[in-house]
Amino acid sequence: MSPVRGRYSGSKPNKPEGYRLVDVFLVLALFSEAPWAVAGSSQCSQSNLEVFRPHSVSITEFGAVGDGVTLNTKAFQNAIFYLNSFADKGGAKLFVPAGQWLTGSFDLISHLTLWLDKDAVILGSTNSDTWPVIDPLPSYGRGRELPGGRHRSLIFGRNLTDVVITGDNGTIDGQGSIWWEWFRNGTLDYTRPHLVELMNSTGVIISNLTFLNPPFWTIHPVYCSHVKVQNVTIRAPLDSPNTDGIDPDSSDDVCIEDCYISTGDDLVSIKSGWDEYGISYGRPSTKITIHGLIGETKLGAGIAIGSEMSGGVSEVHAENLYFFNSVRGIRIKTSPGRGGYVRNISISNVTLNHVDVAIIFTGHFGEHPDDSYDPSALPIIERITIKNVIGENVKMAGQLEGIEGDTFRYICLSNIKLNGVSESPWNCSYIQGYSDLVFPETCDPLKESIFPMHHLDCYDLSNHFRSSRNQKRLARLLSW
Ligand SMILES: *[C@@H]1O[C@H](CO)[C@@H](O)[C@H](O)[C@H]1NC(C)=O
Ligand SMILES: *[C@@H]1O[C@H](CO)[C@@H](O)[C@H](O)[C@H]1NC(C)=O
Ligand SMILES: *[C@@H]1O[C@H](CO)[C@@H](O)[C@H](O)[C@H]1NC(C)=O
Ligand SMILES: *[C@@H]1O[C@H](CO)[C@@H](O)[C@H](O)[C@H]1NC(C)=O
Ligand SMILES: *[C@@H]1O[C@H](CO)[C@@H](O)[C@H](O)[C@H]1NC(C)=O
Ligand SMILES: *[C@@H]1O[C@H](CO)[C@@H](O)[C@H](O)[C@H]1NC(C)=O
Ligand SMILES: *[C@@H]1O[C@H](CO)[C@@H](O)[C@H](O)[C@H]1NC(C)=O
Ligand SMILES: *[C@@H]1O[C@H](CO)[C@@H](O)[C@H](O)[C@H]1NC(C)=O
Ligand SMILES: *[C@@H]1O[C@H](CO)[C@@H](O)[C@H](O)[C@H]1NC(C)=O
Repeated sequence: MSPVRGRYSGSKPNKPEGYRLVDVFLVLALFSEAPWAVAGSSQCSQSNLEVFRPHSVSITEFGAVGDGVTLNTKAFQNAIFYLNSFADKGGAKLFVPAGQWLTGSFDLISHLTLWLDKDAVILGSTNSDTWPVIDPLPSYGRGRELPGGRHRSLIFGRNLTDVVITGDNGTIDGQGSIWWEWFRNGTLDYTRPHLVELMNSTGVIISNLTFLNPPFWTIHPVYCSHVKVQNVTIRAPLDSPNTDGIDPDSSDDVCIEDCYISTGDDLVSIKSGWDEYGISYGRPSTKITIHGLIGETKLGAGIAIGSEMSGGVSEVHAENLYFFNSVRGIRIKTSPGRGGYVRNISISNVTLNHVDVAIIFTGHFGEHPDDSYDPSALPIIERITIKNVIGENVKMAGQLEGIEGDTFRYICLSNIKLNGVSESPWNCSYIQGYSDLVFPETCDPLKESIFPMHHLDCYDLSNHFRSSRNQKRLARLLSW
């Protein structure tokens, strides 16, 4: 993508004479590091050589039948129980060959690779009894949709290290439509299950697979560290309820790379617990990298942060994003009562096509677990940089709604060009920040220029000025 050029932003009242945005662009272009390049490599660390497992069994050795009708929960459980004896001998691989393998929820173990061959399909049972009810997450205090427990995910793991779910583009299909109907007609007693959930685990790789029709969210790492989700396809009907793609939740060192996601809700949603429960659990999501994400969502956003963010979210780097036919591109959602923070977020190289709202901050999302939340627990939203965005057929550039008495600050927008927007493209309240090279022109609270005065207040924009050589060059240029 080439950077947005040109004079469309016109002159701004608070700039020194003769110092225009075009000059800023020239300044940036002269630096060795182009402004749209992210400092360093944000790609998942390259330790993604296939994990070698000295032992391997096939699910068929445990009596599984791949006819799409036979329930294979016992076969999965028995195979994994057997493989547990290899956990301290380099680990083991459970091979799932071509076939339709119907199953209820089962548990993974440490040092296990679940490997789905081409044309292998793990099908989630449509009998809710085969998805047992477990305790709510401590950082949510209750099920996300209903009080009390929640159904356990189809593929579940807890307290694990070194778990790989991969294959040759096999499929994990939650057959979620029955859950969507139960949800819509209000016949559920407990919160719907996710398709894959890993809790309190470290060293998780999920790659080279297709995920379909989750009952609720698709991939949910919660209280995890060192998680990679690479090269996966996730699909659910665009009108299916709350079928998020990937939801890193109170987790750190998560890398999501080269994924295609088309679902009913947020493609990637970064979370960290809910109101008073999330505040007291206090585990943030941090060091989240997203590199290469393509997708569409009719009801959600391409990348969302929140609304559950009470444990804090920081150090998010997302780049190379392409969202089309979607209602929202980038979204931060929160509410009084959430507490926590969203800080140090950098989103760059975004292409939007037919997206209703490019950037949206929602300060009054609502939705509380119960009446015991503290309305004076205000979230801190700061140092959010969004740069290098181009959009076609975008209806609204920014709907940026902060919270009265709790302004979202150091919001920095750089090098953004959106075509097709309506007459009032920005609507900002309780927002503070800076911008350069943004078309259409931003709302007043963001009009002040980032360079040369405010780049240090912006996240991930100061690096261009680190070396003294560059600073001298900048000083020379600005003294023209
Ligand atoms: C995904 O598949 C490719 C091609 O087979 C392979 O090189 C790569 O190691 C796999 N990735 C993971 C993380 O398993
Ligand atoms: C997380 O897992 C480790 C073992 O891997 C265990 O020692 C620890 O107690 C677990 N913590 C929670 C909160 O489940
Ligand atoms: C995980 O660790 C927690 C805390 O130590 C413990 O209560 C729980 O039983 C463990 N769960 C499993 C499945 O090992
Ligand atoms: C992605 O996964 C497919 C199989 O699902 C594999 O053929 C391809 O090589 C993988 N690509 C990468 C970059 O790992
Ligand atoms: C994997 O299979 C799905 C269909 O199940 C397909 O849409 C996708 O393109 C395939 N991915 C790769 C990398 O071959
Ligand atoms: C709710 O949906 C399920 C699944 O379609 C159906 O079996 C059930 O009869 C419905 N219940 C009500 C009260 O509509
Ligand atoms: C920007 O992202 C697109 C994918 O949306 C990718 O093809 C392109 O190479 C990226 N550009 C840069 C400069 O990284
Ligand atoms: C945010 O970034 C600044 C500067 O890069 C750093 O000093 C600060 O520790 C970061 N905050 C968090 C919560 O990571
Ligand atoms: C601007 O946003 C506020 C909510 O923050 C909304 O109440 C108002 O109607 C919006 N104005 C326009 C012109 O869209």
